[in-house]
Amino acid sequence: MCGIVGYLGDKPSEYIILNGLKKLEYRGYDSSGLSILTNNGDILTEKEIGKIVNLENLIFKNDISQYHSKCGIGHTRWATHGEPSKENAHPHTDCTNSISVVHNGIIENYSSLKDDLINKGHKFLSKTDTEVIPHILEDFIKEEKDILKALDRTLSHLKGAFALGILIKNSNPSLIGVKKGSPLILGIGEGEFFLASDVTAFLDYTNRVIFLQENDIVLVDKSGYSIFNNCKKIIRKEEVIRWNSSQAQKGGFKHYMLKEIFEQPEALYNSIIDKVNFEEKSIIFDEFDTEFKNFLKEDIKIVISACGTSWHSSLIGKFLIESMSSIPVEVDYSSEFRYRNRKLSKKTLIIAVSQSGETADTLEAIKRYKGDNKILSICNVVGSSIPRESDFTIYTHAGPEISVASTKAFTTQVIIFYTLANYIGRLRDEITEEIWVDNIETLKNFSKLVQDTLKTNSYINKISPELAKYSDFLYIGRGINYPVALEGALKLKEISYIHAEGYPAGEMKHGPLALIDENFPSVVLLPKDRLYEKMIANLNEIRSRRGKTIIVTDEDNIEELNNYSEIIIKIPSINEFLQPILITIALQLLSYHIADFKGCDIDQPRNLAKSVTVE
Ligand code: G6P
Repeated sequence: MCGIVGYLGDKPSEYIILNGLKKLEYRGYDSSGLSILTNNGDILTEKEIGKIVNLENLIFKNDISQYHSKCGIGHTRWATHGEPSKENAHPHTDCTNSISVVHNGIIENYSSLKDDLINKGHKFLSKTDTEVIPHILEDFIKEEKDILKALDRTLSHLKGAFALGILIKNSNPSLIGVKKGSPLILGIGEGEFFLASDVTAFLDYTNRVIFLQENDIVLVDKSGYSIFNNCKKIIRKEEVIRWNSSQAQKGGFKHYMLKEIFEQPEALYNSIIDKVNFEEKSIIFDEFDTEFKNFLKEDIKIVISACGTSWHSSLIGKFLIESMSSIPVEVDYSSEFRYRNRKLSKKTLIIAVSQSGETADTLEAIKRYKGDNKILSICNVVGSSIPRESDFTIYTHAGPEISVASTKAFTTQVIIFYTLANYIGRLRDEITEEIWVDNIETLKNFSKLVQDTLKTNSYINKISPELAKYSDFLYIGRGINYPVALEGALKLKEISYIHAEGYPAGEMKHGPLALIDENFPSVVLLPKDRLYEKMIANLNEIRSRRGKTIIVTDEDNIEELNNYSEIIIKIPSINEFLQPILITIALQLLSYHIADFKGCDIDQPRNLAKSVTVE
């Protein structure tokens, strides 16, 4: 959860670190801190609770630029051990203030390590698991001349998944990164080096990166960097990131969430363009080998494992795959799936769906079945942990998603499922040529329809203030749009703190109808599909109980619908399988404007984090 930044170069380190931390604030924002190497060779640490701006103000007040630091580490925290406080904020140092550590992840055995260290006379200042690390390293550095050996011995004592940034006084190298389970990336500039949990932290300075691999240790000094794994020096491939730093900024929008909603035409296009050939009417997955293609033709089952918004896109994925093939599909919450005592047949394909590629429960779920079952992941972050544990990965190419509430990552996952379901259906000869061609053709103008859907923005902005006064909402849909109702409700509760529930409309009479009165509005997903009349019946049930309704529809005959609601969000029409994306976009805008009217912290809702790398 937490974000790490490290810098070594010619620029003022506190400036680079603060800039990087601001970009990583989405990873955690209850407190932050940095340590710099001063021009006297000392380690100076500053910490503050709350957002990065508080740390920035403190650093300005204390004028730390007077120390002309060129090397340092920083951290933005999302508390796991110990409440958000200055003491618990990172970095944490050893007894002699010679070693400073920032940490992302969890040290599972910290409690017994801490007891041993206290018995040896070490003094602890925080309640964190992290603080054991500088103290263990302190002891081993005394015993070992070689810093790598001292690090190796330290790491052998730590259980858990983590990434570390380490600053050491009077040492060459002075900046160190360790990756074991949590993400850590090395940025390579001209005579300067960066460490970060996410490339967005240093994209202003360089797009040359190395995604560190499991158990890598990187030592950085002025002359360059060296990467070691199991104490052996190794070469890792340098990569160039295609995202530029402005893509990771707000780009003129009030919030990242709104920017990311408006990026969907491009994100959706980018996600399929390397797979769909409109001229040849074909879909190609270069990611798959022949053996896997043959496996997809067999009598197999699919289990999809995901969390949060990705779980909702997986439910749509189930609908799509089952509609286009005879493969039965289950969708499970990763947090449940990983602990279920279940033996899957070898003929079960596991699909892990994750925007970040770092969600701990999804990662553990696939690790459990790795080797026994084939694992396919659908992921947005190249080089992240879930793809690395998978046999095959389809990347969504949505670009960086900064807002905690997921928008473009969700819709790009859905379009990948649409493409994959068609591909599987065709491979198994279970969809006709006619449907196949029609489904591909439909993708051709899709970006334009997404753009048209975004035109509902001003209408939704206008209706939102009135809706913001309600404290409860019901979202209902049927078929493929039932998961869309779940996603719409999740989006509203995440960012506006209004209670919202999603329900399959056919379940209204089995409970939710009891809630309906003039103070409990319902968002009714009403595409003009084969279940339209059923949904109209649900609308009648709600209206006859004086319930307010907000209709999202592609029906042209708005006049008829005026009898049911004064709020009708009209979106473009498309085939049943892609309609969820257009409805979702309208619901994203609805949540956004209600939350904005309420003055909520939209991009960083309270108690939530973008990437849940702990259980
Ligand atoms: C967090 C985020 C959600 C996201 C979920 C799963 O809860 O706030 O937006 O849907 O994690 O994340 P993943 O990266 O695995 O899709």
